[in-house]
Amino acid sequence: MALTLILALLIPFSHRTHNQTACQICHAGTGVRKGFPRPAVCGRCHGVKYPKPVQWTRVNELAEFARFSHARHRKTSCRVCHGPVETRNVLTAEIAFTMKFCRGCHVREKARAECGTCHEAK
Ligand code: HEC
Ligand code: HEC
Ligand code: HEC
Ligand code: HEC
Ligand code: HEC
Repeated sequence: MALTLILALLIPFSHRTHNQTACQICHAGTGVRKGFPRPAVCGRCHGVKYPKPVQWTRVNELAEFARFSHARHRKTSCRVCHGPVETRNVLTAEIAFTMKFCRGCHVREKARAECGTCHEAK
């Protein structure tokens, strides 16, 4: 456990190493955002006081003018939009959030697909 803690402090976070843990343990948000874990969550396995703040390097970014909410997509597997995260050491934006990607699924799944679903009316 002590060795794990030392490694944890020196080595960047890897999703692959943590593939036995459910996404929701660390990304527990139930609203628009899934969010990031507080150090206490890491501390569950890495010691009572996990001292390192969790770094977040933003990789996925949706165009500012498009509306999105995780809560409304809770029936969709994370993998559809983020790829096979649990097999990755380093994450990249694997899936481009193009209009075709987003709206295409809405049309297929008969969700709302008119422009105002994702764009504010001007
Ligand atoms: C459910 C238990 C659990 C939680 C929660 C957890 N870890 Fe880990 N972590 C592990 C295990 C198991 C290993 C692998 C240790 C080994 O190989 O000996 C590990 C290894 C690591 C390593 C070493 C490098 C590597 O990838 O092998 C780092 C860094 C790390 N964790 C950071 C974190 C951070 C940051 C958090 C919180 C965001 C976190 N861990 C939450 C179980 C956990
Ligand atoms: C329908 C597509 C879709 C699904 C399904 C999805 N996401 Fe996302 N995710 C996104 C988009 C789009 C963003 C970028 C949001 C932004 O830039 O405002 C994002 C951003 C994130 C972020 C960055 C921080 C945040 O909260 O915005 C995390 C973490 C995340 N997703 C985790 C998850 C997890 C875990 C799941 C499964 C439980 C999941 N996502 C399911 C599309 C999706
Ligand atoms: C043990 C904690 C832990 C688990 C389990 C975990 N994550 Fe993460 N996740 C993190 C941390 C910490 C970061 C920020 C890492 C960084 O920025 O280098 C992150 C970043 C992400 C991002 C990038 C967000 C962005 O900036 O766009 C996505 C997407 C994501 N995780 C999805 C998932 C999915 C899907 C799962 C389950 C398959 C999962 N995560 C499981 C801790 C975790
Ligand atoms: C895999 C299919 C799928 C993908 C990909 C997807 N969506 Fe959705 N989305 C849905 C479904 C189905 C609903 C309706 C869910 C419900 O009724 O609760 C929805 C709901 C929404 C809503 C709420 C609409 C309302 O009723 O007010 C918004 C906004 C939205 N999606 C935006 C996006 C954006 C932006 C993207 C791309 C980043 C995206 N979606 C990608 C299937 C998808
Ligand atoms: C399901 C969500 C969704 C719906 C519905 C939707 N869009 Fe989009 N739209 C997006 C996203 C996401 C982007 C950002 C694409 C990117 O960054 O590549 C976008 C981008 C755009 C752009 C910028 C140029 C471009 O193509 O990237 C225009 C213009 C646009 N949308 C118009 C519309 C119109 C008109 C409608 C109605 C027919 C519509 N959108 C319906 C999600 C949606």
